[in-house]
Amino acid sequence: MDEKKVMLSGIKPSGDLTLGSYLGAIKNWAERAEQFDCYYFMADLHAITVRQKPADLRRRTVEQLAQYIACGLDPEKNTLFIQSHVSAHAELGWVLNCFAMFGELSRMTQFKDKSRKNEDNINGGLFTYPCLMAADILLYQPDYVPVGEDQKQHVELARNIVQRFNGIYGDVFKMPEPYIPKVGARVMDLLDPMSKMSKSDEAGAGVVYLMDKPEDIMRKFKRAVTDSDTENCVRYAPEEKPGVANLMSIYSGCTGKSYAEIESEFAGRGYGDFKKYVGEAVVEMLRPIREESLRLIADKAYLESVYRAGAEKASRTAYRTLRKVYKKVGFVER
Ligand code: TRP
Repeated sequence: MDEKKVMLSGIKPSGDLTLGSYLGAIKNWAERAEQFDCYYFMADLHAITVRQKPADLRRRTVEQLAQYIACGLDPEKNTLFIQSHVSAHAELGWVLNCFAMFGELSRMTQFKDKSRKNEDNINGGLFTYPCLMAADILLYQPDYVPVGEDQKQHVELARNIVQRFNGIYGDVFKMPEPYIPKVGARVMDLLDPMSKMSKSDEAGAGVVYLMDKPEDIMRKFKRAVTDSDTENCVRYAPEEKPGVANLMSIYSGCTGKSYAEIESEFAGRGYGDFKKYVGEAVVEMLRPIREESLRLIADKAYLESVYRAGAEKASRTAYRTLRKVYKKVGFVER
């Protein structure tokens, strides 16, 4: 009776993992393995909705796996796999395309955003992206889907699809809940604290990558924007001082200190000093992750054994759901 609840999440290997991916997502994932049955995958199918260099995509996909493990995701306790290795994702994705409405898909904020940014490549995949994401989720019948705030709308769409599909065919899919962590949920760009620290950001000067060298991390924090007032005082006021608030949230994520503790720690000390401390805290937090990632990246045979075993395990669950769906919609059994 004490079946563990199921969790599932994915990250697109469309850019190298950032401090934001770690504090906002992966760090929390690592702590859940005991309590939940967890699936995490590299969403390579999703990555190609924006043009990728093949060699880079391949490298990043495997490096991302190494980084997941280095961040504490134990492959013995979590199912770690590459999305394209479980073809059920693409197959169910097609079926769900037929259960999502044009109007619904047109309202997706990410689609509108990405169309604006990729005017020369507004492809069909970018438009139906949420159907593939719904397939990713529903194949594993998860209870919770840990995502950032920006992905909540996609999980909502998956929920609409569940309602529509189950309404016609009976209880096929479990209704998933989005799971948005309270702390460290959103790390913002160091140079533009109004936008999310994004791994797909080309310039990257305000983005800290998990694999950045300590000196690069320190330089990025030194140049981080604080705010334009002359107060020069570390105080948590996200509306007035988004840059400072972001640095405080990063520092809190690294050290576990509360905002009040941080305010008193830096009382009477300027932003320059504060930024140096935040930078050092990040360097120390990321050091073991970077070292372990580099060690794992060099061990190709090990990584291969992990993603093979992961795909095998994920496939068992995924095809069970897919077979049920195929039967329900009226496909002849193979
Ligand atoms: N769309 C997610 C993102 O851009 C990645 C993703 C793909 C995902 N499939 C998923 C997240 C399924 C959670 C569940 O971040």
